[in-house]
Amino acid sequence: MRIAKQEYARRRKALMGLMEPNSIAIVPAAPERTRSRDTDYPYRQDSDFMYLSGFPEPEAVLALVPGREHGEVVLFCRERNPEREIWDGHRAGPEGACALYGADDAFPIDDIDEILPGLLEGRERVYYGMGKDRDFDAQVMDWVNTIRAKVRSGATPPGEFLDLSHLLHDMRLFKSAAEIKVMRTAGEISAQAHIRAMRYCRPGVMEYQLEAEIQHEFAMHGARHPAYSSIVGGGKNACILHYIENSAPLKDGDLVLIDAGCELNGYAADITRTFPVSGRFSPEQRALYEVVYGAQQAAFDTLKPGNHWNAPHEASVRAITEGLVALGLLEGEVDALIEAEAYRPFYMHRIGHWLGMDVHDVGDYKIGGQWRVLEPGMVMTVEPGIYVAPDNEQVAKKWRGIGIRIEDDVVITSTGFTSLTDDVPKHIDEIEALMAENREHTPSYL
Ligand code: GLY
Ligand code: MN
Ligand code: MN
Repeated sequence: MRIAKQEYARRRKALMGLMEPNSIAIVPAAPERTRSRDTDYPYRQDSDFMYLSGFPEPEAVLALVPGREHGEVVLFCRERNPEREIWDGHRAGPEGACALYGADDAFPIDDIDEILPGLLEGRERVYYGMGKDRDFDAQVMDWVNTIRAKVRSGATPPGEFLDLSHLLHDMRLFKSAAEIKVMRTAGEISAQAHIRAMRYCRPGVMEYQLEAEIQHEFAMHGARHPAYSSIVGGGKNACILHYIENSAPLKDGDLVLIDAGCELNGYAADITRTFPVSGRFSPEQRALYEVVYGAQQAAFDTLKPGNHWNAPHEASVRAITEGLVALGLLEGEVDALIEAEAYRPFYMHRIGHWLGMDVHDVGDYKIGGQWRVLEPGMVMTVEPGIYVAPDNEQVAKKWRGIGIRIEDDVVITSTGFTSLTDDVPKHIDEIEALMAENREHTPSYL
């Protein structure tokens, strides 16, 4: 269930088809990054580079050179090195880059400064991810200057520099059937992880223990890394949107908010569930949960081709504002409260974001100043929330410190949408039923 070699080839062809005449595109691999002294962070390939090459190693650069006689797809990578490979593992080498990854031509990365100016020479336009990485920006300019230094001997340096992101990120926004299949599996694994956390949860369990349950489920299914740092926030910690300390004990009577999704074969899932630590919602928790649940349903109702990107957000704002008025957390007339953004102290983020190789995936949300229209193949999250700050003195005490978010991942289809993350209980009755089993089967180690 990986992306096939042919699909990478199709992507490269499609991108070259969109490029202006007589141009070249250059995409670097992600650098390795130090975590401490001589240990690195786990290596994560750059999403743009991975999307076009499928090549997993660092110290590599892809050049797409439409119409080049000796091959349009050129990969620079590390050479085979028996001694280094004993320490750090296998390298494909330039031979492997051609044989296994579909490059037409490949060279050692150590030779790039000699070879790349030759590929640029005579091309009018250079596409690259401008401003993403200062070192790479400088390297591109060095290659261009190498050619400029030779103009008196007839060399013609490129004169136009274009941001590759415009073309490439629009391609990445529309997921293929193969990508959706991987994302569906990432969603299923992540759903099972949330179920496992619900099953494990009891008063006294630590937030990091729920994180550990989740991580174990991810890794047991081949998704070794989360797509982002898992958020496990009990009680008022749920009101800190990016709470990743995960260090507190979970208390009877509190809710716990878990926002966690795995990365599988380079693609992210992103799920949030909020449930009671001891398995039963209090009346206040139940009331706010139902508003968030209703807001998510209202957002879902807008998801179909032709509606604009902001439609689900607007639907969720209306549902949340109405709910907060009905419960007495806001006072006034709904339209006026929406106009004044009175909901913002409780709902301060947007309904969601594109989802793909990156959890906050690439792709424009507006085109020509207007909200983009939804189209089949787009994948996004739908994640309304209500967070009542613990120190919000505008509302009755009983509401304070409650934070709730519900987040699912959906694909826009020709008629509406399908969810990739349906497997986790979400309705109050389903959550309470699942957690009732916990009380019946307390493991001996708790
Ligand atoms: N987990 C990050 C987000 O929900 O956007
Ligand atoms: Mn999330
Ligand atoms: Mn999200």
